[in-house]
Amino acid sequence: MASRGSFDRVADRYDETRGGEERGRAVAAHLAPHLPPGELIELGVGTGLIAVAFADRGWRVTGFDIAPAMLARAAARVPGRLVLGNVSALPVRDATVDAALAVHVLHLVDEPGAVLSEVARALRPGGRLAVVGTGQPEASDISDLIGPMARALVGDRPRTDEPAVLAPLAGPVGLTLVEDLELRTPAPPTTPTAAARLVEDRLWSSLWDVPADQWARVVEPAIGALRRLPNPDQPRPGIVVVQTLIFEKDPVRTGRV
Ligand SMILES: C[S@@+](CC[C@H](N)C(=O)[O-])C[C@H]1O[C@@H](n2cnc3c(N)ncnc32)[C@H](O)[C@@H]1O
Repeated sequence: MASRGSFDRVADRYDETRGGEERGRAVAAHLAPHLPPGELIELGVGTGLIAVAFADRGWRVTGFDIAPAMLARAAARVPGRLVLGNVSALPVRDATVDAALAVHVLHLVDEPGAVLSEVARALRPGGRLAVVGTGQPEASDISDLIGPMARALVGDRPRTDEPAVLAPLAGPVGLTLVEDLELRTPAPPTTPTAAARLVEDRLWSSLWDVPADQWARVVEPAIGALRRLPNPDQPRPGIVVVQTLIFEKDPVRTGRV
């Protein structure tokens, strides 16, 4: 299955630009009451920011990722098994997993149905999958410029981590959407100057493959506008509001009446 680009290019700046371990602790605190204890797998474990927080809370963690440099950072952080590979084929036995996490990853895969099917195979009946979507920053003069830029780049098509896409794919593979939550996670306070630099350095995956003409038409004006904001070195609020979906693996059907 194809994925969009490799996070290896941003591995050394991932933690500082994605909320660090503080975000991992916030996500784990929010999701822990909704997930069964025991064996947990994280799809797209990245540098392990989320996985380590679940390990600290007692889950036995296995993380999967396709990017070696991201996984190397996770190996230095997470007490658990870390596996290099694509989440479309999980080296996990059937019905052995209690909880699964997909945090900021399903928007990157081209066939989310194949991933849901693989997670459903791995989960035991009653096991749960949490899908944390990409999220929107709380309104600020920075997000007022970055939001329209991002929409101009990715268009209005539904993202592959949205309920409208995932819910119809989940039922046929034995997963039921049981909760739809709003999660507020911290991001580092960002200044207009820092935000302009993040965009220039293409630190977000949506910026990796932007063609030169679109860069000139959409991205450069946004960078210019960020640089012209008042108080360019004063930090703006760093909260991101994220939709989180909880799916539950259906009970085994025996066929008896
Ligand atoms: C935005 S990062 C999220 C990392 C982590 N979940 C977090 O929240 O910090 C997405 C991660 O998913 C990985 N990834 C993307 N597509 C994948 C695939 N098909 N199989 C395995 N990993 C994948 C990337 O390499 C990257 O490390």
